[in-house]
Amino acid sequence: MFDDLKNRFDFFVRSHTRFSRKNYRGNLENDESRYVYDILNQFMHPKEQDFLRVLDIGSKNWAYVRGEYKFFERFCTNLRLDGVEIDAYRLYSNFYSRYEAAKFYIGGLQGVNYYPDDLLNINGKYDYIIWLLPFLTPYPLKKWGLPMRYFMPEKLLRHAYEILEKEMLIINQGDEEAEIQKALLDKLGIPYESLGVVSSKALEFKNLRYGFIVKRD
Ligand SMILES: C[S@@+](CC[C@H](N)C(=O)[O-])C[C@H]1O[C@@H](n2cnc3c(N)ncnc32)[C@H](O)[C@@H]1O
Repeated sequence: MFDDLKNRFDFFVRSHTRFSRKNYRGNLENDESRYVYDILNQFMHPKEQDFLRVLDIGSKNWAYVRGEYKFFERFCTNLRLDGVEIDAYRLYSNFYSRYEAAKFYIGGLQGVNYYPDDLLNINGKYDYIIWLLPFLTPYPLKKWGLPMRYFMPEKLLRHAYEILEKEMLIINQGDEEAEIQKALLDKLGIPYESLGVVSSKALEFKNLRYGFIVKRD
């Protein structure tokens, strides 16, 4: 109760002030990017087409955007890659916001947009969607500083499926989240393939990660 009040207040303040230090500089060729490229390469099979629309949900600072870009640009001549992040103005301890960091990571990439917004406000259609670590239990959402009103895994999944045209890769952390993810997909009647444990030599995690592929056609 008190935690939520604090999160609501902090979230309100940062979303309205949008404060950040400027001109973030990081490492474009990072392990997160290599990890994402590798798992996309293992589990997604896009069909070649002239124009591809791809969405990343919950992009955080989008440090891994280049992994997605490098993977999908192989399958098209025109790529539109969008990232959506509801808490884009959350600050790091060095006073850069995720938004400021994301501006650095997407720098120089054609057709890439970072939207500081709620997934529920994204209404275009996407051929491919990547959803790394959705919040499926309240605890991590609270830890990440979001107000409890944003805990809505079922509504978000239904929306992601509505805007999907071809294939979505979902990655969950730990077997409990994977079970919850599976139950949600079943409840909503969304067809999927369970990938089991998903791993990559590019980046190893303490908790096992599990994957699902949702297909439209
Ligand atoms: C566990 S983090 C994963 C971040 C990133 N995808 C990664 O793998 O490092 C979940 C992210 O989803 C974002 N998020 C949660 N609800 C959202 C919503 N309704 N719309 C957009 N982003 C959301 C959170 O703010 C958070 O940055």
